[in-house]
Amino acid sequence: MQDLPNKFLITSALPYANGALHLGHFAGAYLPGDIYVRFLRSLGKDVVWVCGSDEHGASITIRAKKEGISPKEIIDKYHELNKASFEKLGMSFDMYHRTSEQLHHETAQEFFLNMVEKGGEFEVKESEQYYDEDFDQFLADRYIKGTCPKCSHDAAYGDQCESCGTDLSPTELINPVSTLSEKKPSLRKTKHWFFNLDKHSEWLKEFINEGKLDGKQHHDPKKWKKHVKGQCLSWLDDLRPRAITRDLSWGIPVPLPDAEGKVFYVWFDAPIGYISATKQWAKDNNKDWESYWKNEDSQLVHFIGKDNIVFHCIVFPAMLKAHGDYNLPVNVPANQFLNFEGEKFSKSRNWGIEIHQYLEDFATFANKEDALRYALIRNMPENKDSDFKWDEFVEFHDNELVANLGNFINRVVVLTNKYYDGVVPTPSGDTQAVMADLNKLLQEYCEEILNFNFRSAVLKLMEISSLGNTYLQDVSPWSIYKTEPDSQAVKDCINNCLQIVQILSALAEPFLPFSAKKINGFLQSDVVTIEQVLAHMEQGTSALAAGHQIGKPELLFAKINDPKDTTRMDLIEREKGKLLKIIEEALPKKQLIKEEITFDDFTKMDIRTVKILTAKKVEKADKLLELTVDLGIEKRTVVSGIAQHYKPEDLIGKEVLLLANLAPRKIRGVESKGMILMAENDKGELCLVSPTKPFGTGWTVR
Ligand code: MF3
Ligand code: ZN
Repeated sequence: MQDLPNKFLITSALPYANGALHLGHFAGAYLPGDIYVRFLRSLGKDVVWVCGSDEHGASITIRAKKEGISPKEIIDKYHELNKASFEKLGMSFDMYHRTSEQLHHETAQEFFLNMVEKGGEFEVKESEQYYDEDFDQFLADRYIKGTCPKCSHDAAYGDQCESCGTDLSPTELINPVSTLSEKKPSLRKTKHWFFNLDKHSEWLKEFINEGKLDGKQHHDPKKWKKHVKGQCLSWLDDLRPRAITRDLSWGIPVPLPDAEGKVFYVWFDAPIGYISATKQWAKDNNKDWESYWKNEDSQLVHFIGKDNIVFHCIVFPAMLKAHGDYNLPVNVPANQFLNFEGEKFSKSRNWGIEIHQYLEDFATFANKEDALRYALIRNMPENKDSDFKWDEFVEFHDNELVANLGNFINRVVVLTNKYYDGVVPTPSGDTQAVMADLNKLLQEYCEEILNFNFRSAVLKLMEISSLGNTYLQDVSPWSIYKTEPDSQAVKDCINNCLQIVQILSALAEPFLPFSAKKINGFLQSDVVTIEQVLAHMEQGTSALAAGHQIGKPELLFAKINDPKDTTRMDLIEREKGKLLKIIEEALPKKQLIKEEITFDDFTKMDIRTVKILTAKKVEKADKLLELTVDLGIEKRTVVSGIAQHYKPEDLIGKEVLLLANLAPRKIRGVESKGMILMAENDKGELCLVSPTKPFGTGWTVR
């Protein structure tokens, strides 16, 4: 296995405390972080994993406005909700902090002042900025909407177009509108602090391209994901000073005498939140925070989603370098996006599922936490966008967790109880080929995790379980035991299988911590770490001692698609049903069928094919056209309400249908004899109805 340092400082993007987290967030920055830190801890490493709520910025104040409550109420509500959701799914943060904490405000201000002292990092510039006259305030980028200059999406924000992903500045938007007053904003002069990112361009290029820092090899650039490097490179050629202050009342005040009324831009203070969180953790646990951030042998890794790449690979590293003394990230294994049943998660459409919702809906579902973790890992958007589907959730669960992992463990525990009353049998000591195969998979499993390939890594775990199943099947101890209950071959087989189960519990822990705990419960053994497993493998010793008494078998996962018990499948169907309903409700509304009539009622109507001869507007009526139509036996004048859908000149010569025996009516002084038939859709659009081929005039429709 590759050489690893002893200390790690791991971060996961601080989620905005302005809404509930959904499965996409979870698969993007948190689940991968949890897998990685659990693995490192199991290797005996000294790891601190920090996260917390990002509680500043316009996203919070906008949400507060929408809900009609204060920003403080918003952040308190969503901080608690998200923190609880994370805990329930087993996120093993060492600290889940908040950027509204005093400690963070102080840390961010101090960080800024240190940068100011360095000299040359900031410049203060006057610029013109959008201002909402009605609301009497400058507009943060997020408060301005308009048309994207790149893709023409008509609801792009002043900082980013969420349709094409382009980063924007508010003045680039076409037809900007203030989201506060819904009016066109005006431009006003204001002063801001700009971080001179361009000054950092040279070393950043070397850092990203070659993994070098201050002339030394800092990390292996080949280990960075392609899409992460790709995004960085497109930025590096055009680094410009970025404003890091805003005219807002919600945020961290800029601690300078000439900066009254200004706060830090949320993306300046939020990443410093990683440092504040570490400080808080150190305070609570009587540790030294600085050694994790500053020691040469400590590694910094950021887990994020792809929309945060530039901040974590370019801006924050530049801030850390400008400040000095801090480590820079050795990797930023950003994930791409997870979609939901083929479409983007959308709060407004209610498309997707939030974590707390999943936990409520699946309250009765056995091992629901690991079932979800597994489905998300199997489909993690590691290098490209992926899709969560309920059908796949069921397949992964039933075919892999139940049929492979759960089945193997269950068989081994059952057989041990049956043959040996649950006591681990003594092996002959012959080394077995199965253990050599296992060792190879184990090494691959470790490498995949260290390279952030969690999808592949979890498949290695499943391969080890398959290996166990195949081995058990090949030996078939049940057929030997029938005639030879004291057979050493059976004891060897069961002992080996028990060792594999014990190893599986260690290897499952980073991915499926709830199951790992249960497996240990079946074995009634102490937790075995991956570090111990590796040592056993190397020394040819075993994790589970002969003579140890294990427990009784219990189910690890209960099959979803089970005709004898549909309770779990019913839950899945209910989720699918909710989605179907959203789709159906979005379909255009059709009018209900009218009351039934008889055939005689129908034949009372005399509908004819007619040709339009002339058409002109009816004066002072913008909806009406006066038409003359040819019925073959006579010509008539008809007034029709189609002026907004057809130009008079386009109608001449058209064959259409006329209800010919409708009582004449005077409309705007014109006598109308009959009615031209039209179809109308839910948008109120009208369409003339014509024979599908030239048919001649005057014929009856029946
Ligand atoms: N709140 C941001 C988001 O959800 C992430 C902030 S990450 C940090 O996109 F580094 F700034 F903390
Ligand atoms: Zn766009």
